Amino acid sequence: MLMLFGSKTSFGLDIGSSYLKAVQLKEKRGGFELELFDMVQLPPELIVDGSIIDSLRLVDALKELVKRAKIKTKNVAISIAGHASVIIRRISLPEMTEDELAESIKFEAEQYVPFDIEDVNIDFQILGPKEEPGQMDVMLVAVKKDIINEYVTVVREAGLTPIIVDVDAFALGNAYEVNYDIEAGRNVALVNVGARTINLNMVKNGVSIFTRDSSIGAAIVTEALQKEFSIPYEPAERLQQGAEVEGAKPEAAYNIMVVSFDELLTEITRSIEYFQTTTGHEEVNSIILSGGGALLKDFPKLLAERSGMEVSIANPFKNIAVPKKFDRGYIEEIAPMAAVAVGLALRRPNDR
Ligand SMILES: Nc1ncnc2c1ncn2[C@@H]1O[C@H](COP(=O)(O)OP(=O)(O)OP(=O)(O)O)[C@@H](O)[C@H]1O
Ligand SMILES: [Mg+2]
Repeated sequence: MLMLFGSKTSFGLDIGSSYLKAVQLKEKRGGFELELFDMVQLPPELIVDGSIIDSLRLVDALKELVKRAKIKTKNVAISIAGHASVIIRRISLPEMTEDELAESIKFEAEQYVPFDIEDVNIDFQILGPKEEPGQMDVMLVAVKKDIINEYVTVVREAGLTPIIVDVDAFALGNAYEVNYDIEAGRNVALVNVGARTINLNMVKNGVSIFTRDSSIGAAIVTEALQKEFSIPYEPAERLQQGAEVEGAKPEAAYNIMVVSFDELLTEITRSIEYFQTTTGHEEVNSIILSGGGALLKDFPKLLAERSGMEVSIANPFKNIAVPKKFDRGYIEEIAPMAAVAVGLALRRPNDR
């Protein structure tokens, strides 16, 4: 394959609505080692509903992150999420080669994409033959060009070269793949609870078979705390993360938080149920929880209770060597938040 970019190195950049995260990995004897990691918190309202509202401040934050993390390469893999801009559908098509599908995908996609087909970038992955002879399953991905442009422009303005634009749910899947053993025949729900988005990626035999994004996240917990104690965003964030804040008793804060979890729990179980009803009631055996939501006190436990499923907290560094130069305690603590960035860091410049 033609190398379009001079260097083989790249890093993963997760542009979340509340944190930017950067991860660079180094390949080492068939495995991976963490080379660089850092994250910076964003002020609220820079990114709303997946759309970049304040690109100037976002560019500044990106530059700060690159500088602080000491990232030398310019090549970066980013991702986009959100049900308003990303369509991911598993579709059934007559069997054909990858080249044939590349030719016809636009035409095939038209009926599944609720936007003008000229306004989206289309990608696909052949998942394999179906039970019916002559048919195959294909994962279709359509992302609105204007949202890609928004993100790509900001990244370029920060002096970087975007080489891959992925979607959050698939980046999650990548991170899962390098870190976890495939559980044959079992459906595993990868659930990433961010500040304003929940990504669900249902994986079976190591392959993504269903994804869904919801526009709700841990920010509703922050907002509930702000409202209850009449405090600004900043202290509410700290309170949510377990710090003490003047004028807010920890027990009272905890109670408010647990009440606000309800909507998140409902949304996650609803998404999983939606998967089940559209696939003939496939069993879902476990949830691997990532994102900042995984760090909310007792949230994983309450999700297990609500869903009746086994819930574990994602460790995207499970199979990645973390050298001593890193603050390992810190990395371990925030690991679930790094899942998407790790998945992006695994992508290579000459990937499709
Ligand atoms: N230690 C912690 N304890 C509790 N909540 C936390 C902790 N750290 C972060 N959070 C919460 O998690 C959220 C951030 O998670 P994450 O970084 O996964 O989101 P994001 O990627 O920025 O957002 P999104 O993907 O939704 O745009 C914030 O709402 C924050 O309050
Ligand atoms: Mg996120």
